[in-house]
Amino acid sequence: MLDIRLATEADRDVIWNIFRVVAAPGDTYAFDPHMSREAALAYWFRPDTRTYAAEQDREVVGTYILRPNQPALGSHIANAAFMVAPRARGLGVGRKMGEHCLSEARRLGFRAMQFNFVVSTNEAAIRLWKQLGFEIVGTLPGAFRHSEKGYVDVHIMFRSLIED
Ligand SMILES: CC(C)(COP(=O)(O)OP(=O)(O)OC[C@H]1O[C@@H](n2cnc3c(N)ncnc32)[C@H](O)[C@@H]1OP(=O)(O)O)[C@@H](O)C(=O)NCCC(=O)NCCS
Repeated sequence: MLDIRLATEADRDVIWNIFRVVAAPGDTYAFDPHMSREAALAYWFRPDTRTYAAEQDREVVGTYILRPNQPALGSHIANAAFMVAPRARGLGVGRKMGEHCLSEARRLGFRAMQFNFVVSTNEAAIRLWKQLGFEIVGTLPGAFRHSEKGYVDVHIMFRSLIED
């Protein structure tokens, strides 16, 4: 059973551990692979952000954030980001967090969700987001400097929350 709930102060260490191992390879997010704990947690727990933890057998195995993609006149569109601990991948945690996030976004009144920076080589993420109803609405040529593959494209993915 996966329990997805708002993260608390007590989750900061384990969330940092997940963040650190996700950022370190430099293959999925633009974060500095050597980003400090302080900077990472400041970003993940930003005041405009709802931070969630996914707990399996009392162990946090994933985390996601949900927030307005833009201030004020753009704040009806949500943005989100997801991280699953490597050892817990491929077990449905990412999909459950994605579904939970869409339902939270709807509950909070967002009209759509936008992912601003989906690295084109991140096949697992693109496949999952398409399965959850997202479409690629634009591609930024060479916008990500992949640690192994060099400059690769980045997709913007979008999903309406009001049509269904
Ligand atoms: C992307 C991520 C969140 C997916 O989480 P996960 O728990 O591993 O995914 P799930 O087990 O729920 O799998 C759900 C779907 O994701 C896709 N997927 C997961 N792993 C995959 C892989 N290795 N290759 C291809 N597709 C994969 C599949 O579509 C899968 O559904 P299916 O098995 O029915 O085809 C996770 O891999 C992760 O944290 N990656 C690093 C950070 C990241 O890339 N975040 C997203 C940035 S946009």
